[in-house]
Amino acid sequence: MKIDGKPHRTIWLEDNGWSVGIIDQTKLPHAFVAISLRNVGEAAHAIRSMQVRGAPLIGATAAHAVALAMREDSSDDALQKAIAFLAEQRPTAINLRWALEEMRAALTPLAPDQRVAAAYSRAAAICEDDVESCRRIGVNGLKLIADIAQRKGGKPVQILTHCNAGWLACVDWGTATSPIYHAFDAGIPVHVWVDETRPRNQGAALTAFELGHHGVPHTIVADNAGGHLMQRGDVDLVIVGTDRVSANGDVANKIGTYLKALAACDNNVPFYVALPYSTIDWSVASGAHIPIEERAADEVLRMSGRLAGGAVVEVEIAAPGSPAANPAFDITPARLVTGLITERGVTGASSEGLNSLYPERKLTSVA
Ligand code: MRU
Repeated sequence: MKIDGKPHRTIWLEDNGWSVGIIDQTKLPHAFVAISLRNVGEAAHAIRSMQVRGAPLIGATAAHAVALAMREDSSDDALQKAIAFLAEQRPTAINLRWALEEMRAALTPLAPDQRVAAAYSRAAAICEDDVESCRRIGVNGLKLIADIAQRKGGKPVQILTHCNAGWLACVDWGTATSPIYHAFDAGIPVHVWVDETRPRNQGAALTAFELGHHGVPHTIVADNAGGHLMQRGDVDLVIVGTDRVSANGDVANKIGTYLKALAACDNNVPFYVALPYSTIDWSVASGAHIPIEERAADEVLRMSGRLAGGAVVEVEIAAPGSPAANPAFDITPARLVTGLITERGVTGASSEGLNSLYPERKLTSVA
């Protein structure tokens, strides 16, 4: 996607042919800063500290991190240790483990002296695959938006989204935003309600940033506004991303997604979840088995922002001494999900729906 007219991806191989460039997303929206990842430790830090975040981008970064690890030591032991270390960095997004298993399968059978080149090549393929999956999600989701647009006779289609499931969360296009970008580029009038998404503000800081740079009309709303907007008839559909979908169609996504799904159900607003196949965890039977990341209390107790003079500062926002809890994801039960928008098409959030799109990957074992 474009920033100031210039095409960008979220991750790239730098000109030296080995270090990995990323956008430091902790600096957005106040500064657009690219940084280099030069070893597995820096890549792990980028994932854990959310310099990169969003399920598909976490996976793409982990794949490159394995390549960086192989440059230093390409032995069997180093390969298995790097994969185990990277897998620990964030627990909920299954794309992290998916990408690491792809790397393990590609590299384990090779002789150590072949692993560096093969790792970079597999990491690049994972990125290209994500771009194509997200593009297709956009094409498949576009039909849903186009249908609503036709019914509304030229009035903008009002779409609510939560967190950032845009191109910044993937390699390009985004998952939830890809249908929106495709609709916008096709000349369909759209307007996006952007949940600010406390505590890390991925909506206000990232989704609004990328929609704004693409020219998509949008409005940031406080997380609690969604139900009210739906009651008033100001939301035609909700599209969110996901960090992991279990084999029965339950959806793990950023904390607060479940409340949006409940409000959507109560107001007959269609609630869609957009995802590539790499976000489906066929090994877990239901959302109850998906680990929920618990992040630092400070993310709730403090906020950062830009002063009028330009300096970015962090401030305390809570009663001094009060503790805080920070579960980072929640589970939306499949029954509240109208449909899953995937690179293969739109399907029901159920084992039948998933199996019909991915007959080759039917659940074989359950956690
Ligand atoms: O904690 P984050 O910012 O990594 O959480 C991201 C989300 O929850 C996204 O909605 C999800 O990864 C889908 S991304 C295409």
